[in-house]
Amino acid sequence: MKQLKIYALVVLFAALSCGKNKEVIKDENSSVSSNIDSKVDSLLSKMTLEEKIGQMNQYNGFWDVTGPTPDNGDAGKKYEHLRKGYVGSMLNVTGVENVRAVQKIAVEETRLGIPLIIGFDVIHGFKTLSPIPLAESASWDLEAIKKSAEVAALEASAAGINWTFAPMVDISRDARWGRVMEGAGEDPFLGSKIGVARIEGFQGSDLSKNNTVAACAKHWAGYGFAEAGRDYNTVDVGTSTLNNIIFPPFEAAVNANVRTFMNSFNELNGIPATGNSYLQRDILKGKWNFDGFVISDWGSMIEMVNHGFAKDKKQAAELSAIAGSDMDMESYAYVSELANLVNEGKVSEDLINDAVKRILRVKFELGLFDDPYKYCDLEREKEVTGSQQIHDAVLDMAKKSIVLLKNENNILPLKKEGQNIVVIGALANDKTSPLGSWRIGAEDGTAVSFLEGMQHYPNNKISYAKGANVITGDASFPFELNINTTDKSEFSKAVSTAKKADVVVMVLGEHAFQSGEARSRSELGLPGVQQELLEAVYAVNKNIVLVLNNGRPLTIPWADAHIPAIVEAWHLGTQSGNAIAQVLYGDYNPSGKLPMTFPRSVGQVPIYYNYKNTGRPTANEPNSVFWSHYTDVSNTPLYPFGHGLSYTTFQYANLNVTVKSGNEVEVSFNLKNTGSIKGKEVAQVYIRDLFASVTRPVKELKGFELVELEPGEAKQITVTLTEKELGFYNNSGDYVVEPGDFTVFVGGSSNTALESNFTL
Ligand code: BGC
Repeated sequence: MKQLKIYALVVLFAALSCGKNKEVIKDENSSVSSNIDSKVDSLLSKMTLEEKIGQMNQYNGFWDVTGPTPDNGDAGKKYEHLRKGYVGSMLNVTGVENVRAVQKIAVEETRLGIPLIIGFDVIHGFKTLSPIPLAESASWDLEAIKKSAEVAALEASAAGINWTFAPMVDISRDARWGRVMEGAGEDPFLGSKIGVARIEGFQGSDLSKNNTVAACAKHWAGYGFAEAGRDYNTVDVGTSTLNNIIFPPFEAAVNANVRTFMNSFNELNGIPATGNSYLQRDILKGKWNFDGFVISDWGSMIEMVNHGFAKDKKQAAELSAIAGSDMDMESYAYVSELANLVNEGKVSEDLINDAVKRILRVKFELGLFDDPYKYCDLEREKEVTGSQQIHDAVLDMAKKSIVLLKNENNILPLKKEGQNIVVIGALANDKTSPLGSWRIGAEDGTAVSFLEGMQHYPNNKISYAKGANVITGDASFPFELNINTTDKSEFSKAVSTAKKADVVVMVLGEHAFQSGEARSRSELGLPGVQQELLEAVYAVNKNIVLVLNNGRPLTIPWADAHIPAIVEAWHLGTQSGNAIAQVLYGDYNPSGKLPMTFPRSVGQVPIYYNYKNTGRPTANEPNSVFWSHYTDVSNTPLYPFGHGLSYTTFQYANLNVTVKSGNEVEVSFNLKNTGSIKGKEVAQVYIRDLFASVTRPVKELKGFELVELEPGEAKQITVTLTEKELGFYNNSGDYVVEPGDFTVFVGGSSNTALESNFTL
């Protein structure tokens, strides 16, 4: 009876506050947030310690429309916790019916009726997939990237989800690390812009709408600098790299009002990120004043025992809570240990209150207290899932993500008729791999394969030969895949078919499950026997277009030296085959630029364009040995950061640099389309600070513009550099702009065309 009364009061409270809240939320931010803060305080004052800790506990989905999944031993306990109000969030519960069922328990059966926040990895789409994030980043098209996140949010929110664990804004310089597919590449400037575009796309301008979701900047911090590119490995980086390379995209995310952060599996300079007060309290919540909440990564609290940082689960909970991890994903540490820790005086209840306030604040902002079922509309789910609008957006994004790496003798675009085209490669006929590594919401086999895409051009004869498997095993069971296949039994068929072709299109590279989490590689060439297949086909027909499918930069020096056309087509999502075919036939003129350097050899890794000069950057006399180089490979990359060709050509001229008052520098130049078709170019502006109190890289991207030009058309482009672009973080973590000499570089890649100097 008593419980019923309290429940009635809560419903009344929620009902009263929701009517008001709806109006207020549209007002300007300060009054909205103070309004939310007072609701949060009022709710918090009614909560028991266990209920507060419940908000800090997230459980992985144990739910099917029928109830808790029977095959999960923990399900019974989780179910009981849910009914008691000891669960604040669930992940991997999707679909309106499932979400409604768990939400109903949280809202209608618990004492206070606090709704759950429902999280999912909507990384590059939900059921209908966009290109993998690294591919999208190759577009350098912030509007398109924002749109891609917007339609991902649309489709996911229609399936009950209101929180995505994206964007991953980890910078990485190491292509061996499988998760480079999930980020924006190696550059903090580009990475910050792309991270912000994704956050804006996911969260929209009004988080309380039912078609937007809360975003999550991850993994805080340093995860992309795992030693030797091996996932989850130790990270040990210096202050300058931390402040200038790793932190900036996260700071930009806070400034873009990202509502949540996820910490990371790795230790950073000896302290695991999940138990790291410097990262979570001093920088994120202190210096940057972040008012959202931090979730741990999957089991990262309990993994602190393996790291050798916590003695046991109890200490892991203590260290995590003190360090500022607000929500526990799948360590079961908070739910089982935190109340005792508070009662024993080891963790102050103030810290718990702070964490819970942060979590409740986001729930209020999402409007979950107004209507906990706002994402649970079956009609809307049917209408939105896989809609034409979403397919159009992912196709557009896929075309923009393709990078033309090489095109000798204009072998591309392909002629649209009268050609005998032979397509070779298992990936050409694959309807699952293009979906990418993060496709847990999608159905296998739902991508348009390359061969299907080619069918839209019926006036050529297309034949197909697999040539070699990329993987064996069932692609839906990624753990059972054998990726190093050795079977060459289909080589001879491929070679004999290729002999008669006008053009051979070879689709080679990595299956989607060869990149992504825990998919680190020690070699970066074409996996398995694909390199041998390429050489065998080349021996009988040199007219080859190589289409690469991959989640990371590959080392392909032989292909670069021999194959006339190379197209970087990544894992492009649901519309992959259509996008590649349209580019190969010239119905879409490619404009992508690499967001990550392609090495010549794996031994050059980490290789990145914004390196430091060193004391011995060049040989000071011929045949000198004592300078910073390799004896067996050049220092230069195979394809530099920012590289990408078009079916037209561009010319840069008339670079002018003017220093204005207040440390503003105006960089202007002329860009002309010198070819015969319309095309887009990403004009890039770099600087070098020639001497500084902390050494600066030889080049740093500081501006870019995506420009479309008609044949023969020229445009004057002006990029203004402000103190935000001209300074850096010193080793005390202070941002400084130092007077001195700078060089400005301009061009269509980090191998720039023009340069000039200025002095601040
Ligand atoms: C990944 C996170 C992801 C989480 C939930 C972890 O293994 O590192 O990025 O969001 O799982 O699926």
